[in-house]
Amino acid sequence: MVVITDSYISKFGEFYDKDLVDLSEEAINGLEINLDNIDAVFVGNMMGSKLYNMNQLGVAVRDRVQMDVPFFNYTLACASGGMAFYRAFKSVESGEFDKVIVLGVEKMTDFSSCEITEALMGASDFENEYLFGLTFAALYGLMASRYLHEYKKDLMLLDKISMKAHSYALSNSNAQFHRELKDSDFEKSVMVSRPLKLLHCSPFTDGVSAVVISKEGEGVEVVDVQMAQDSLALKDRDSIISINSTNVAANKLYKATGIDASMIDMFEIHDCFSIAEAMIYEDLRLSERGQGIDDAAEDKFNVNISGGLKACGHPVGATGVKQIAYLFENMKNDSYGLAQNMAGTGNTSFVTLLKK
Ligand code: COA
Repeated sequence: MVVITDSYISKFGEFYDKDLVDLSEEAINGLEINLDNIDAVFVGNMMGSKLYNMNQLGVAVRDRVQMDVPFFNYTLACASGGMAFYRAFKSVESGEFDKVIVLGVEKMTDFSSCEITEALMGASDFENEYLFGLTFAALYGLMASRYLHEYKKDLMLLDKISMKAHSYALSNSNAQFHRELKDSDFEKSVMVSRPLKLLHCSPFTDGVSAVVISKEGEGVEVVDVQMAQDSLALKDRDSIISINSTNVAANKLYKATGIDASMIDMFEIHDCFSIAEAMIYEDLRLSERGQGIDDAAEDKFNVNISGGLKACGHPVGATGVKQIAYLFENMKNDSYGLAQNMAGTGNTSFVTLLKK
């Protein structure tokens, strides 16, 4: 059995006075465990290499915290944290290590919107998307346009999904935004990439999160972690109105564990744009095809109580770890929780099932 025994989630927002190593140190020191018992540290980070010219972040953190164990770096766009967790889980499950830390960290706000947007675009297909200037808001804008057209849905449903996220974030003291949204806010919200307005997007965020996973101990069981991949470019997908990698990973997870969506009590999912939340409901099989947008707008399931990426914030390389840490800290006894984390427009997805 693999168990999560400890966690740390920083405040999400803007921290001009802290760099990537400071944030990582904060997370490691924020854990309650005895660091002498840790065998390895798995570090997820997306943009340190591009924005800070740091491609050995793990070793830099190792120097700072003075831990004489291997530190591994994982970079897989917005799923860097999910990837680090997946590899850490496999290492404990296989017996390679007994107890490890998984850490996800990102710093985005030191840079201009243009610089961050360009760095994020490193997660797109270079020839077919990046060179055409397609930002992630533009790519998800295309997906949203097609979804709304195909299922004849109103854009206002996306407003409701964002309102739900901001409303939940009010009760999360670590969230970036503590601001309730009203219908009228969407009339004033600037268009980022049609049909998506600023209030349909996750923000730029600094933050860090960590969990400890172990072969034994008190905590929350990691029942299973599954992953799946799809093409990098949207143009090579069968459909741009679903996240197929999430659907494949979830189906593998449900089959392997015998637990399906209807048996899961709490979800933390990758709502990088409000339209993604609608699609993920369908790909996790919470909702029928074409129904995810209504179900999310009606807040039909227990999804993203943290405020999600939209309102808790999206420090890209930290998000996958934060989702799992948040479930660990908030699941009730005798319940299941599921985290879904993905890269780019869904070229890679990780789904993690926890049981308390
Ligand atoms: N939701 C709600 N409010 C937001 C916000 C968001 N996503 N982004 C910024 N704000 C707020 C800011 O707090 C600021 O408020 P203030 O005037 O009260 O201080 C205001 O809006 C303007 O902020 P600013 O920093 O100028 O925004 P921006 O124009 O630089 O960036 C986006 C806004 C939406 C374009 C940017 O956050 C974005 O591109 N998000 C997507 C990130 C992304 O692609 N991630 C990867 C996903 S795959």
